[in-house]
Amino acid sequence: MAVNVINNHYTSFTTNNPDDFPLVSWKERDARVQQLIDESFQLRVLPLHKGMFESKYHNYLFVGSEEYTFDDREMSLVGQSAIEIAEQFSKKERFDALDLGTGNGRFLKSLKDRFNNVDVLGVTAADFRDTRYASNAFRIPDEEYVVGNIENLNQLPSLQDRKFDFITSHVTFRHLSDPVGVICQAYEFLKPNGLMILDEFTLNGISGEEYVNAFKNAGCHEVEIVPECHVEIDGIRRRILAKPLTTSIRKTTDHLDLQLHYDLTRSTRADADHQAQIFYKA
Ligand SMILES: C[S@@+](CC[C@H](N)C(=O)[O-])C[C@H]1O[C@@H](n2cnc3c(N)ncnc32)[C@H](O)[C@@H]1O
Repeated sequence: MAVNVINNHYTSFTTNNPDDFPLVSWKERDARVQQLIDESFQLRVLPLHKGMFESKYHNYLFVGSEEYTFDDREMSLVGQSAIEIAEQFSKKERFDALDLGTGNGRFLKSLKDRFNNVDVLGVTAADFRDTRYASNAFRIPDEEYVVGNIENLNQLPSLQDRKFDFITSHVTFRHLSDPVGVICQAYEFLKPNGLMILDEFTLNGISGEEYVNAFKNAGCHEVEIVPECHVEIDGIRRRILAKPLTTSIRKTTDHLDLQLHYDLTRSTRADADHQAQIFYKA
């Protein structure tokens, strides 16, 4: 088995013997699979960030896009839902929010501006704060900003002993090799009744129905998938309601025992119009 970097955005896992590629269960990643995931982060994700910071590429990122803040309610389902969810949790004395793939942390900033009783944490593959993507208007402090690989979320030291009322992720999961595995790890970081909402994840050969049923069978009943939705406005095709595959999951069971097995070489496209299709058979 090998990781092949096809270009700046694409890598694939390949093998001469397809039977050799193990099915992944979220609980136990085969050591070979874990190694491929880690290699891929080193070979693809980090150089891509370096290239962006050095102005070599332009089309990879939004770094805290407007549609993911409280300023713009029009475009992003995650952005819209995050407002509603945050407002629910803000009734508590204090509440905790985790943003996976936070870019320069603009979303964290907008949360803090709106609520004075929120504790935030963002995770990003590379530090955007001293790059050309930095904002003059704010700088998220170190204690709220973690640089690391969310594929291995449960190993990040800053997350140990933390639990969150809600977890968001916007246009990030399409960059992952094992999105379902990351969803399962993130679930463990939710407080009871906590909510997670994220978009643009790929299902490695799993149907949406199978995905939802696996959660329901594990005792987690509030799980939803919103599929890709486009409309035409003034002759222009726009994504209006949802980015492809947005999911929301409420923590209704202490731990997940998800009976899901999937093949990381089988990746559903996150979005045909975008660059970040990650793992598929070459
Ligand atoms: C397209 S940007 C989105 C930024 C922000 N969420 C927004 O909506 O504007 C993707 C983000 O995901 C992060 N990312 C991609 N792969 C990652 C990984 N394996 N681990 C941690 N962060 C990752 C990137 O560093 C970046 O912060």
